[in-house]
Amino acid sequence: MGVTVAEFKHQPEPDITPIPLMQLATAFWAFKTLSTAIDMDLFTRLETSPMNPPELARWLNIEERPAEMILTGCAGLGLLSKQNGRYRNTPLAETFLVRGCRYYFGGFVTMLNHRLYAGWDKLPQAVRTNRPTTWDPDKQKSLFEAADPEMMGTFWQAMHSLSIFTARGLGEAVDFSRFRKLLDVGGGSGAFDIELCTRYPNLSATVYDLPFVTGIAAEKIAESGLSGRVTTHPGDFFADPKYPAGHDVILLSMIMHDWNEQEDRGILRKCYEALAPGGAVVISELLVNDEKTGPPPAALMSLNMLIETLGGRNYTPSEYRAWLEDTGFRDVKVIWFESAGANGAVIGYKR
Ligand SMILES: C[S@@+](CC[C@H](N)C(=O)[O-])C[C@H]1O[C@@H](n2cnc3c(N)ncnc32)[C@H](O)[C@@H]1O
Repeated sequence: MGVTVAEFKHQPEPDITPIPLMQLATAFWAFKTLSTAIDMDLFTRLETSPMNPPELARWLNIEERPAEMILTGCAGLGLLSKQNGRYRNTPLAETFLVRGCRYYFGGFVTMLNHRLYAGWDKLPQAVRTNRPTTWDPDKQKSLFEAADPEMMGTFWQAMHSLSIFTARGLGEAVDFSRFRKLLDVGGGSGAFDIELCTRYPNLSATVYDLPFVTGIAAEKIAESGLSGRVTTHPGDFFADPKYPAGHDVILLSMIMHDWNEQEDRGILRKCYEALAPGGAVVISELLVNDEKTGPPPAALMSLNMLIETLGGRNYTPSEYRAWLEDTGFRDVKVIWFESAGANGAVIGYKR
């Protein structure tokens, strides 16, 4: 139908601008600039050799026009600064985007670029069908399959990149000094175990994950020099009747959002059974607020679970509190913090 000219003329002058919409609508320009620079390993290169556009063009064997544009784009995004005609990394790029650095974030960007971007392009399909778009549930049982080479190549490196700094946030916000032995259920690359055991010298940890994943964790643990204190336990947290015993704290980081409520309640029940009285379970996630109005990282991660999983989504503190208390956990509390892959932890104790 639309608006007639007469109606249009009578609409009041807005006192707000569409600039926020421009920022939202072009967010993928920024993402693609960042991910292209990471694919070229630009920040690793600039760390040792700041460059001007002709030098970048020569290094990449490309023309000067795109070389200048990518450098200007990265500078505009706060990733590079310019001094004496040459571009160099800002502290943000230097700390997180140089390959090999402790908190390298590029692995997560690489997965977003090469795996999730295409899945998000099919978001309308996911919304219509309530099915994931990054894998086919008619051909695979779950997202986590060793036979999926694309997954094997990117997913756990990406999780490591995201989780290593998130673990630092969790370790600062939650006092693990009272615990001795951590079981990391679905621990992936072992990022949380490496970071938490580095921070808490009296803590040791077990990474419990699928057999093809614990090999990846073992490599990361060896690289960190923690092989004595962080070990792996291959298993399947759905198929195994019991979880490994002898731990006083269990971590569930980015596990619950992969599954539906019934599956999550089953995981919590087995966590409860594996703990001795006094033990705790820590759920670390991007928590959606109880009103379900945000915050944006959690609300958008939840949509990411629509394109990646069959029944997962990001849950609220109230939902976790109810499931924990129904399972038998007591003294449930929520601790908020700010990090990349989590904004809070929900903790419950077995009394
Ligand atoms: C989103 S990742 C989170 C990894 C890690 N907790 C972190 O935060 O970095 C989910 C993890 O659950 C593991 N997982 C999925 N299904 C599993 C199962 N049935 N048994 C054990 N681990 C499983 C995956 O292999 C993967 O490492």
